[in-house]
Amino acid sequence: MRLLVNIDHIATLRNARGEGYPDPIEGAEVCEKAGAAGIVFHLRGDRRHILDEDVYRLKKSVKGILDFEMAASDEMIRICKDVDPHLCTLVPEGREELTTEGGLNMAVVYDDFEQRVFPEFKDTGIELSLFLDPNPKDIELAHKLGADAIELHTGTFANAKDKSAQKHELERLKKGAELIHEAGMTVNAGHGLNLNNLPLLIRDVPHLSDISIGHALISKSIYWGLERTVKEYLKIMN
Ligand code: PXP
Repeated sequence: MRLLVNIDHIATLRNARGEGYPDPIEGAEVCEKAGAAGIVFHLRGDRRHILDEDVYRLKKSVKGILDFEMAASDEMIRICKDVDPHLCTLVPEGREELTTEGGLNMAVVYDDFEQRVFPEFKDTGIELSLFLDPNPKDIELAHKLGADAIELHTGTFANAKDKSAQKHELERLKKGAELIHEAGMTVNAGHGLNLNNLPLLIRDVPHLSDISIGHALISKSIYWGLERTVKEYLKIMN
């Protein structure tokens, strides 16, 4: 199991003042030095946090896994191929959303992904991961497309209102992880994870590989510092 830190919100803070700091690339270095296996960033169409120049600087400085999270637009595919990260995680993206709100609807995107998106990545060596809710049908279609990995959307579990809803979501994630693993794909997970809910996810959901964590980790680092916060997450994962 590997911790990939999403550094988008270091860029959010930088952009709030436009003075060039805090620098997300420096943040990525601290995370890796503290033991994170890699870095995730989401280059959004509206460039609300990470900017194009950040992406190229990250490519130069990140020593571990680089996960390029993006919508499957022609523009993003071009940049992603140019940057050549280890992993590309495809997500749905809405202009008004505060953050990614759910997984891809595979029935809706299937034909486009098959005809336009997946052929673009063929022979690039970039692994393709699809951000999905733990729906068997979505997982089956992702497998049919030839996805290397699936990032399970853990947001519904993270936001569960009570213990019974949480248990229900954990059960869905567990079944989803089993299906993904049986199909020979890598099981990644992310969204809404924090120091309280991560232990439950790890306890109940098998085959987890890359865990992508951003908002809660970066928020906690305001009080604890980034190095200590990354180490606290690693303690849970190890
Ligand atoms: N994975 C995906 C696909 C995401 O869109 C996000 C949010 O950018 C994350 C993981 C990280 O979520 P959070 O910031 O809630 O930890």
